[in-house]
Amino acid sequence: MTDFTALRRRFPVLERKTYLNSGSYCALADTVREAISAYMDDRLQVGANWDVWVTKNEAVRRATAAVLRAVPDEIAVTASASAGLNALASALEFGAPRNKVVVSDFEFPTNAQIWHAQEPRGARIVHVPKTPDGDIPLESFARLIDEQTQLVAVTHVCFRNGARLDIPGIVRLAHERGARVLLDCYQAVGALTVDVKQLDVDFAVGGMLKYLLGTAGIGSLYVRGSLIPTLTPTHSGWFAQEDIFAMDIRANRPARNARRFEAGTPAVANCYAAEAGLRIILEVGTDAIEERVRALTRRCLAGLESIGWPSVTPAADGRRGPMVCVPARDPAQLCAALMEQDIVTSFRDCNIRATVHFYNSEDDIDRFVGVLEANRPRHYSGTDSRKP
Ligand SMILES: Cc1ncc(COP(=O)(O)O)c(C=O)c1O
Repeated sequence: MTDFTALRRRFPVLERKTYLNSGSYCALADTVREAISAYMDDRLQVGANWDVWVTKNEAVRRATAAVLRAVPDEIAVTASASAGLNALASALEFGAPRNKVVVSDFEFPTNAQIWHAQEPRGARIVHVPKTPDGDIPLESFARLIDEQTQLVAVTHVCFRNGARLDIPGIVRLAHERGARVLLDCYQAVGALTVDVKQLDVDFAVGGMLKYLLGTAGIGSLYVRGSLIPTLTPTHSGWFAQEDIFAMDIRANRPARNARRFEAGTPAVANCYAAEAGLRIILEVGTDAIEERVRALTRRCLAGLESIGWPSVTPAADGRRGPMVCVPARDPAQLCAALMEQDIVTSFRDCNIRATVHFYNSEDDIDRFVGVLEANRPRHYSGTDSRKP
């Protein structure tokens, strides 16, 4: 049995805050802070410690592969999720007949904007709409994925409402029709098990600052091994070359593995933080984390029901991730009111987002629900018939 109470002590901010904001930025762990200090010590004591620094990028690659259940050669360590998407997009051609990219209405902007940016190169972007009740059923994907579709680029968990798409269903549909699938797992990876092989996705992007417990400025791109030799990014650089230190200025010789999707000097300080964060995730194990997160989000949904302020996040376990969203009359104001009570959340559209990780406790959830209840008269935006 995992001792989540002991693990919680490794995140000092939790002594001061009810921290329900890991979907924006994780709480800082003791070992992540130490890793960042170790980088500083290196700078002070050694100066340019390149031999060690290069191994850090490789350590992040290996640990990311372990989390995604892929092999290291299939992982590019990138500066952001967006950088991974751009490198991948640059390697695709959008000539007929397969020039269509299907995205959903649940996408984080970057996973739509980057595909729209390919329109001058011939790409045609199609959006799968959400239904009036805020869902995107598989049938909606079935209507739009066809023989002209090259790529289906979809989020695992929606950053606006916490809904989880039916990824196995979408992958099955896309592959039947000859299209590839890119999974944006940033709002899931580290909080849920994201097994790229079991999900059978072709590509996956994510980053280290949320549930992977690292920091901003570092992300990853997974590319299915068999596809790597068929894809040559034009978004490139010297760290994407087969031999980085050949320093050849007369040719582009991309690495044989997914490093071909990288570009310039790795974000060394961020690698220190990311490696330490990934280690915690691997130590605790994503299956145990997912179970813990599921129990906490379930408790949150039940608490919200009990105060007559229901969540807009799907209740079914398989249809939600680590985020519970609560509609509010003025979410910015409610977020500030929660902050005054040391409850850290975020908001998007008309929803407050409470995002949960394994280091949260039942007390965190109950406090959140309790403070919402106390604020219900001012902030409830729904049509619930109960008197506030
Ligand atoms: C689902 C999702 N995708 C992509 C991004 C953007 O990542 P990056 O800023 O690393 O490009 C975010 C950031 O919040 C996100 O939540």
